[in-house]
Amino acid sequence: MNPDLAWATWAGDRQNRVEHALAASLPAEDVAPQHLHAAMRYAVLGGGKRVRALLAYAAGEFAGAEPNDVDSPAVAVEMMHAYSLVHDDLPCMDNDALRRGKPTCHVAFGEAMALLAGDALQSMAFGVLAAARIPDPAAACALLAETTGPRGMAGGQAIDLAAVGAVLRIEELEMMHRLKTGALIRAAVRLGASSGRALPASKLSALDAYALAAGLAFQVVDDVLDVEGSSASLGKTAGKDAARGKPTFVSILGLEAAKRRVEALRHDAHAALEPFRAQARRLGELADWIVTRTH
Ligand code: IPE
Ligand code: IPE
Ligand code: MG
Ligand code: MG
Ligand code: MG
Repeated sequence: MNPDLAWATWAGDRQNRVEHALAASLPAEDVAPQHLHAAMRYAVLGGGKRVRALLAYAAGEFAGAEPNDVDSPAVAVEMMHAYSLVHDDLPCMDNDALRRGKPTCHVAFGEAMALLAGDALQSMAFGVLAAARIPDPAAACALLAETTGPRGMAGGQAIDLAAVGAVLRIEELEMMHRLKTGALIRAAVRLGASSGRALPASKLSALDAYALAAGLAFQVVDDVLDVEGSSASLGKTAGKDAARGKPTFVSILGLEAAKRRVEALRHDAHAALEPFRAQARRLGELADWIVTRTH
């Protein structure tokens, strides 16, 4: 791995890798049931920043893994994420019509097919991880299950829906964000790292502290962009949180305090990596990208 590679080149290379690996893993559109396969490919391919895949590759690099070793974990987390977006956009949840600059999956394929595409992507994510050439696939599957279940993403989404119109305390909001978005981001880091050589406890806990800060920062930025971005630049409907009465970091803290919180979290993410310097370079760059992104 060339340590001099510029961030954008490194990230572009990994985004391409995971895009190809996803395309190769997903069932072909000309194989029955075509509608389901088309909906799955539509939801996953040709869009998305691939933040979770990049986190897996960067954490893998931290643990001495080659990109090749991390492809399956990267595919698994991106499939899981795509499933979560398809269901998040359904009329019974956020009822969104625009995602990644295209009509949402249920708008393009109907609600039933979108529901099934999400289900199938979730199943496939576990299948990919179970078959991955990583040191401990069973542990990886258990981690992904914990991360996306009631004590992770699904739990966070349930809190999100129940909180519409409510004023949450900042601690409650933070917990919701850590579950609905932070948990999968944390898993992406752990799964990437576990594709390499075994790390000492000190490095694992530093990675975890990094992932906690970066994961929360990611969702706070998402809340800020919902207020400050445009639908065209975001590729998804802007202003939807306020329109639906969703409690967010912006609605509770205000825009400026939410941005200060993002900066504090960026600082925490870098502080966790501080002892490791060059070894953690990509993780540091990723934290910067997560907080400075405009979509
Ligand atoms: C959007 O995630 C949903 C959240 C968890 C906030 P991303 O911003 O990573 O979406 P894509 O994958 O780039 O479209
Ligand atoms: C989505 O959060 C979180 C998950 C999909 C688990 P949001 O509802 O804020 O995401 P966007 O803004 O629609 O992308
Ligand atoms: Mg939502
Ligand atoms: Mg949403
Ligand atoms: Mg949002």
